[in-house]
Amino acid sequence: MSTAVTSRATGSGVAPQRLVLNKLRKIYASRGRESFEAVKSIDLEIAPGELIALLGPSGCGKTTTLRMIAGLETVTSGEILIGERSVGDLPPGKRNVGVGFESYALYPPLTVRENLAYGLRARKVADADARVDEIAKRLDMTELLDQRPAGLSSGQKQRVALARALIRKPPVLLLDEPLGHLDASARQRVRRELKLLQREFGYTTIVVTHDQLEALSLADRMAVMDAGVIQQFGTPDEVFDDPANRFVAEFVGEPAINMFAGEVVRADGGLAVRVGDGVLETAAVDARLGDTVMVGLRPQDTQVLGDDATGGLGGAVINFEDLLEFGQASVRVRGVEQPLLVQTPPEVDWRPGDTVRFGARPDRVHLFDSRSGERIR
Ligand SMILES: Nc1ncnc2c1ncn2[C@@H]1O[C@H](COP(=O)(O)OP(=O)(O)O)[C@@H](O)[C@H]1O
Ligand SMILES: [Mg+2]
Repeated sequence: MSTAVTSRATGSGVAPQRLVLNKLRKIYASRGRESFEAVKSIDLEIAPGELIALLGPSGCGKTTTLRMIAGLETVTSGEILIGERSVGDLPPGKRNVGVGFESYALYPPLTVRENLAYGLRARKVADADARVDEIAKRLDMTELLDQRPAGLSSGQKQRVALARALIRKPPVLLLDEPLGHLDASARQRVRRELKLLQREFGYTTIVVTHDQLEALSLADRMAVMDAGVIQQFGTPDEVFDDPANRFVAEFVGEPAINMFAGEVVRADGGLAVRVGDGVLETAAVDARLGDTVMVGLRPQDTQVLGDDATGGLGGAVINFEDLLEFGQASVRVRGVEQPLLVQTPPEVDWRPGDTVRFGARPDRVHLFDSRSGERIR
């Protein structure tokens, strides 16, 4: 695993710290009910100043992981290191971790300005007011400063909560779905500003999200999680182009990857999969001839072939959408139950009923074990 980002200097505040999780595990045990392993032995190493997205479906253990790092939830086993220090014995207030959690309520009697300045004053930060003004301007919420939380919309409250986490300039910052309540245009603006502030101040950051576009646009690297396990940790490109297993392949990518069965056959100098009467060459080498495997092919990785081509898959167009920069076609392919989605270059204009052919670069034809879902490389 490569470390994509190295330490960078900060404008002010404490230097960013690396964050390491070693075999971190959480079993919720409630009396009278069965215990539940929400987080299963997670290993993660985040470089100082790096921003990672923790991406996964609801219930996979994202919030539990953040709460353990923040010290808000006990750890069943494993270790959390901030810098060189194991923080397991430290209470939340001593961990030097900034949190933006939904459950972290604002103080109702205080104005937004007072809510933001509260933690700074407690820490006797000299320029508390100037910092409040600056962050409010950056997050486009100056007009909220004199209001009280009760009068704010959920999106505005979320912006205040985000500002409160950012303003302390903590060396480690944990944000749980920080943009979930914002409307589409505010979300884009705040997302951009969050990334800029993160770069400026160099917080080592984990952003939890179930929105892959948010993960792709924010993160240096992303950790894709399912069922309490990190399924893959890598740059967005690595995760998209080289998925570790079927879950990652299907969870990441919009529109979703095509997934269909094929038989492993020999090709010129390598392996291919036979699908109906078509053939796709693959860069995978570990597949056994004759086995049935699952084939993952992203719509974005398909290449339109001419009528005279011999390789690739052939089929009939069911539907074609011209999206200006590219087209998107559903194609009924012999031997595949569901239609496959094919992305076409702008000059292609298909109609329903057209007979078409398409292929893909062998390194973009991903194979998965049909039982375990593990990638066959
Ligand atoms: N306090 C708790 N007691 C028992 N089970 C819990 C508790 N908190 C969360 N869980 C369960 O642990 C799993 C992971 O929850 P959570 O970390 O909140 O997931 P996510 O944030 O990814 O949606 C879920 O199945 C959830 O029901
Ligand atoms: Mg959650």
